[in-house]
Amino acid sequence: MTITVLTLFPGLFQGFLESSILARAIARGLVTVRLVDIRDFAADRHHVCDDAAYGGGPGMVMKPEPIAAALEATAAAGERIVYLTPAGRLFTQKAAEELARERDVTLLCGRYEGIDQRIIDSFVTDEFSIGDYVLSGGEVAAMAMVECVARLVPGVITGESLEEESFSHGLLEYPHYTRPEVFRGMRVPEILLSGHHEKIRLWRLARSIEKTMKHRPELLDSDDLPAEVRELVRKIRKEGDDDGRDEGP
Ligand code: 6GU
Repeated sequence: MTITVLTLFPGLFQGFLESSILARAIARGLVTVRLVDIRDFAADRHHVCDDAAYGGGPGMVMKPEPIAAALEATAAAGERIVYLTPAGRLFTQKAAEELARERDVTLLCGRYEGIDQRIIDSFVTDEFSIGDYVLSGGEVAAMAMVECVARLVPGVITGESLEEESFSHGLLEYPHYTRPEVFRGMRVPEILLSGHHEKIRLWRLARSIEKTMKHRPELLDSDDLPAEVRELVRKIRKEGDDDGRDEGP
């Protein structure tokens, strides 16, 4: 898969692309990340890429001509062109799985107040945000998307670790432990030392549900959860209610 990133700050991606899983995926030829400096496509002598907003107001807007030239020079016909913006729809694991099935994807990073709307109208196929907070530009969001999509490309990481993860079951992850068995007086839960695989699986599932209840309760209302999970959620909720009654006012 080739991911092309259009940005005014290609340097931001350097260390990121040289690290860990992504670097290995790139070295193995499973993923190619192409950095395109939008400024190289500005036709004027000073390579100006921004200008004041029509209608007034603070902040600058990215000019359409350099972006259009960069897209026309780099994007293949029919390729998805994703604009990273806090005004986009939320980028989720499901959206990542969808993008990972594409052969090529272009990520367009905005800076300042954003890009000229006519670029969105004429080139952009998807607008994504990575969450409800404001970044100064799309670059950090693009890195999140590159990392998330790249690890879903077949061969980048093993299927087993993929399947275990948060959101692949629609739940948050259970707690993990490694050696030593006792750290500062805190013991590893006994069941994890038992070698009893089914009991361990059920313990982890229960911890996942508890964690999800605490941090992201809305995820438990999804119809996509496996029947076993929905049943356990009901049981844990009921136990919680019963405890509440026992304790009384
Ligand atoms: Cl994609 N861009 C910016 N500038 N801020 C964001 C974002 C994107 N997603 C969340 N906040």
